[in-house]
Amino acid sequence: MDNLLNILQGYKILTLTFREVPTHQLEELVLSNDLEGELFERLELLKKNLGLKEVFYLHTCNRVLFFFYGDVEIDVNFQLRFFRQLNPALSEDQFHFLCSKIKLLEGTSAISHLFEIAGSIDSMVVGEREILRQLRTAYEECALQGTTGDYIRLAMQQAVRTAKKIYNNTRIGEKPISIVSLSIKALLDRNPKKEDRILLLGAGQTMNLVCKFLRKHDLRNVSIANRTISKAEKLMAGFQGKAMSLEELESSNIGFDVLITCTGHTSSWINGDLYNGLLAGETDRKIVIDLAVPTNLKSEVSQGFNMDYVQVEDLRKIASANLAFRTKEVDGAKVIITEQIAEFKLNIEERKIERALQTIPAQIKEIKEKAISEVFRKDLEEMDEAALAIVHKMMDYMEKKCVSVPMKTAKQAVTK
Ligand SMILES: NC(=O)c1ccc[n+]([C@@H]2O[C@H](COP(=O)([O-])OP(=O)(O)OC[C@H]3O[C@@H](n4cnc5c(N)ncnc54)[C@H](OP(=O)(O)O)[C@@H]3O)[C@@H](O)[C@H]2O)c1
Repeated sequence: MDNLLNILQGYKILTLTFREVPTHQLEELVLSNDLEGELFERLELLKKNLGLKEVFYLHTCNRVLFFFYGDVEIDVNFQLRFFRQLNPALSEDQFHFLCSKIKLLEGTSAISHLFEIAGSIDSMVVGEREILRQLRTAYEECALQGTTGDYIRLAMQQAVRTAKKIYNNTRIGEKPISIVSLSIKALLDRNPKKEDRILLLGAGQTMNLVCKFLRKHDLRNVSIANRTISKAEKLMAGFQGKAMSLEELESSNIGFDVLITCTGHTSSWINGDLYNGLLAGETDRKIVIDLAVPTNLKSEVSQGFNMDYVQVEDLRKIASANLAFRTKEVDGAKVIITEQIAEFKLNIEERKIERALQTIPAQIKEIKEKAISEVFRKDLEEMDEAALAIVHKMMDYMEKKCVSVPMKTAKQAVTK
């Protein structure tokens, strides 16, 4: 394994993503339930039993990926041993299903796929930077546990550089896609004042995110009503309003400037009477953001009262337009990936030379020491202290130069 093509050919990927199977099936197919606690032991076993030099494993809610390095042929027999090792509970049918769905990539295609993942152009939501964080965390863990080495380190470094270039030089990460981000943008577009009274209905996962954004934008005059009051209380950190139950809400006469509602009722439940109560006699135009599906507001309320009403359907339309915008940036990202693959090839060549030359410092040191202790020993013994010091200084200088010159020359030869 020494020329560039052979070195690159050692990189392989076996992967299953949301494109091949429904996401809930990803885990059950590839990993046995008891794997979580002994993941790294299994990866080590894979290396040992299948002749792999390095293995990196990534698992997100949309993909399972094994990126490995080794001089092995990935035929059906290899896949059988690979997946049996990982998931002994896999039935014959499941194994055949897995093999029919799993994607195999080798050499430059594997590297290109890794870069596409890092740059989030292979994501379910194009331009979602979270994948880069997941990739880095998974790599750091594997590196720490020793399942990866120099080959995967080089590829990962380049993948991170590629992702940064993509995010910095294209607009792939611009324009929000998530419903919560878009709802906050819709609110900010309407220029709320810091002191505006914001009333939140619901305290589930979505509202949790909404609260993070409100704190971030320093909108803190927030009250929260929820069926389970303890959850509302928990969300109140950093806010100045009050937490209450839905029963209290009905009789609260609270008044508000902005209403954000997101409860999991199976039908619209905010009727005219309840809404009137919440208004507490105020008649100015309110901002109402309804994130629930189905909407929490009954249509007679959203249509019959003086409000600027934003509902999930509106936000979904913006999300699809934004996704289409991001997807247009994919071509630009692919150009960057092609450039980065070329750079990666140079890095591989450089590293190959570094590896070949890594014994040079020790060899030069040995020559120097032999010169001092054997070859020129007598001459040196006849010298006075000052002359001897100069000789040692010169030899140290020569040692350093003798180490750096071949390294520098070889690197220049690679980049020419
Ligand atoms: N369009 C989107 O992309 C999107 C994204 C996320 C969510 N949503 C919608 O947002 C809503 C909530 O989602 P979530 O992820 O935040 O759910 P969640 O974490 O399960 O929270 C549900 C919230 O609704 C409350 N709730 C549920 N059923 C209720 C009922 N019958 N009466 C009174 N309160 C009830 C819960 O109160 P307790 O705390 O008392 O259980 C909790 O506050 C859903 O309608 C969902 O479809 C939409």
